Amino acid sequence: MPRKNLTANRTSLTHRVRYAARHPDRVPRYLARAGRDAWLRLRHPRDHVAYYRAVMRSDSAADPEAAVGSRTHDRWLALGKMQFDYLVEHGLRPGDRMLEIGCGNLRAGWRFIDYLERGRYYGLDISPDILFAAQDTVVRHGLQDKLPRLTPVRDLTFAFLPDGHFRVVHAHSVFSHSPPHVIDECLAHVGRVLRPDGWFDFTFDRTETAEHHVLREDFYYRTETLVALAEKHGLRAEFMADWEKLPHGQSKIRVRLPADS
Ligand SMILES: C[S@@+](CC[C@H](N)C(=O)[O-])C[C@H]1O[C@@H](n2cnc3c(N)ncnc32)[C@H](O)[C@@H]1O
Repeated sequence: MPRKNLTANRTSLTHRVRYAARHPDRVPRYLARAGRDAWLRLRHPRDHVAYYRAVMRSDSAADPEAAVGSRTHDRWLALGKMQFDYLVEHGLRPGDRMLEIGCGNLRAGWRFIDYLERGRYYGLDISPDILFAAQDTVVRHGLQDKLPRLTPVRDLTFAFLPDGHFRVVHAHSVFSHSPPHVIDECLAHVGRVLRPDGWFDFTFDRTETAEHHVLREDFYYRTETLVALAEKHGLRAEFMADWEKLPHGQSKIRVRLPADS
C-alpha cells in the first residue's frame, strides 16, 4: 500500500543518497529518466505543457499504462476503480455531465463512460499520444455507442466549453505533474464550466514542509497553498479526509462555487 511521505524534500542530496541506498535497483532507471528529461527541457525551456507533452509522448510509446503511472495492468484496473467508486459514493449519477481533465488512457475514464449516459463524458488531455491510447481503451471495452468526447488541449482555460455545463469535474494525478501557473490557470477558469451544484475534485502530491519538484515531472504542494489558490479565484475548497483512508499516495481537494452562486 503506497504510504505518504509528507516531510521528505526529494531535492536534497541527503534524501537522494538515502533513497538510492534503499533502492539501488531504481537508480539506472532514474538516471535514464533524468537524462531524457534534461534533453526535453532543453527543447522546451519556457513551456511546461510542451515539455510534459513530450514526456508523455516518450512514455506512451513505451507503455501507455505505465505512462499514466501504473506498472501493471492489475494496478491500472485498481487505480481506475478507486477513482470511480469514490465519485459514485459521493453522488455521481448516470445523468450527470462529467469533465475529466488529464484523462490519460482512460484508466478511470472507461468506467465513467460505461456508467454515464451516452455523450455525458468529456475527457481532455495535453497529450495526443495518450488520447490515441484512450481510443484503444474505448474499443477494448466496447464503449463506442457511449460516444465519449476525447479532446487534446493546449491549456486549461476551457474556452471552447459552455458555461455551467458540468456537474462533476475530475483531475486525478494531474496537478501532481503541474507547476503552480498551470494549477492557477485551471482554478481561474474551472468555475465557469461548473454547474452551480457541481464540484471539481483534484488529487495532489502533498508535502508538509517546503514545496518542491523532481525533474519538473512531480510537484509537491502544501494543502494551504492549493486551498488559498482556489479561494483567490472565488472557489470554496475542502480537503477530502475520507480519501486519505484509501491506499493511494496522493491527497484530494474538492472545490465548489460560492454558496450564493
Ligand atoms: C498520471 S496521468 C493520469 C491520467 C488519468 N487521470 C488517470 O488517473 O489515469 C496524468 C495525465 O494528465 C495529463 N496532463 C498533464 N498535465 C496536463 C495539463 N496541464 N492539462 C491536461 N492534461 C494534463 C497527462 O498527459 C497524463 O495523461
